Amino acid sequence: MKKVTPSTLEKMKLAGEKSTCLTAYDATFAHQIAAAGVDMVLVGDSLGMVVQGLGTTVPVTMENMEYHTRVVATGLKSSEQQPLLIADMPYMSYATLEQTYRNAARLMQAGAQMVKVEGGEWLLETIRGLSERGIPVCGHLGLTPQSVDALGGFKVQGRDAKVAKKIKADTLALVDAGIRLLVLECVPAKLAAEITASVNITIIGIGAGPDTDAQVLVLHDMLGITHGFKPRFVKNFMEEANDIPAAFTAYVKQVKSGEFPTSEHSFE
Ligand code: KIV
Repeated sequence: MKKVTPSTLEKMKLAGEKSTCLTAYDATFAHQIAAAGVDMVLVGDSLGMVVQGLGTTVPVTMENMEYHTRVVATGLKSSEQQPLLIADMPYMSYATLEQTYRNAARLMQAGAQMVKVEGGEWLLETIRGLSERGIPVCGHLGLTPQSVDALGGFKVQGRDAKVAKKIKADTLALVDAGIRLLVLECVPAKLAAEITASVNITIIGIGAGPDTDAQVLVLHDMLGITHGFKPRFVKNFMEEANDIPAAFTAYVKQVKSGEFPTSEHSFE
């Protein structure tokens, strides 16, 4: 049985081996994703958009996240490969320390092995508190969808020098506070490469170019079934595959070999 832990991912980074992550929201897909050898499964609050048909992740609740984390964890139980299971803390579920501890505990008891929170410096106490209490934390910087209204839309972050400097400073502060992984979403490839080289933890990119340690895509996007706008960083792996398991295998192979993502899927 292959069990992936944060240490496994750090060793892969040291060895120069790329790691992989996909989102999952139910048991069947989680099982298939694990069978393809994907290293991490994220129960993303993107479920608000791809499962519930909403325009943003803002309406997603703790009840939603707890339910989907539980069914994904059930799907992984019978898998020979055991990817690291990360669950998103939804909008305003970590606004105060008391809320954070209560809600993170709910996700861990539903089967998550790590929780993900969006934001920079304001989260340092939260990350320290969770880490000290034995809950591993994944950070999320760049385009943070829960702040879509404050950011003025789903836009690339860090193109101007001031924001780029802030993302770099936030990364170092979050690492110092104890995050074990970091998602960098929609930032210029050069900025993501610099950040990746500056820390020991695994940086997971989405729309962050080819040089991060790992890649993540939303399940429905990589299967080509999301309707409406298709972001630049998305590749439809079903176009070259005969079935869904083959699309997952192709994703793993192409991320590991450096075939995906290319400059076509990246921002300058
Ligand atoms: O919610 C989600 O699926 C995410 C990924 C896009 C990283 O946060």
